[in-house]
Amino acid sequence: MKLSFNLNGRPIEVEYEHQETLAEVLRERLNLTGTKISCEVQVCGACTVLIDGLPVSSCTLLAYEARERNVVTIEGLAKPDGALHPVQQAFIDEFAFQCGFCTPGMILAAKALLDENPKPSREEIVHYMDGNICRCTGYVPIVRAIQKAAQKLSNEK
Ligand code: FES
Ligand code: FES
Repeated sequence: MKLSFNLNGRPIEVEYEHQETLAEVLRERLNLTGTKISCEVQVCGACTVLIDGLPVSSCTLLAYEARERNVVTIEGLAKPDGALHPVQQAFIDEFAFQCGFCTPGMILAAKALLDENPKPSREEIVHYMDGNICRCTGYVPIVRAIQKAAQKLSNEK
């Protein structure tokens, strides 16, 4: 079967089997391995992608549910010239990762948060990011990175 959707700003068409998840299609058919798979039961957030701007666990979303929708993965966040999105840059600046396994999902969830709420409080950040688990950092630098990105984005306006 063929599946059509917008991926990182471009229309694509890809073969898939009806039982495949979006995470599997992204990683195995499209070679976009920035989307990680860990728990596979919608608990850890490692597989987070944005669909129509909202964070979604792609490990439990059947691929066909993405048809004709706008999907953004971590590979699509930087600008065409390679300039990183402010959330990506803030994660680097604040050392907000160690092994990096949670990082693509964290960054996409944080982008969705800042799109919806450009000036979140610390509590709002913690609450919104509740679905993304990190085993390495203790979360403090992640929260700091999101606050820094919020500041940068607001300065750009
Ligand atoms: S791998 Fe999808 S939520 Fe954990
Ligand atoms: S940096 Fe290792 S799980 Fe988050």
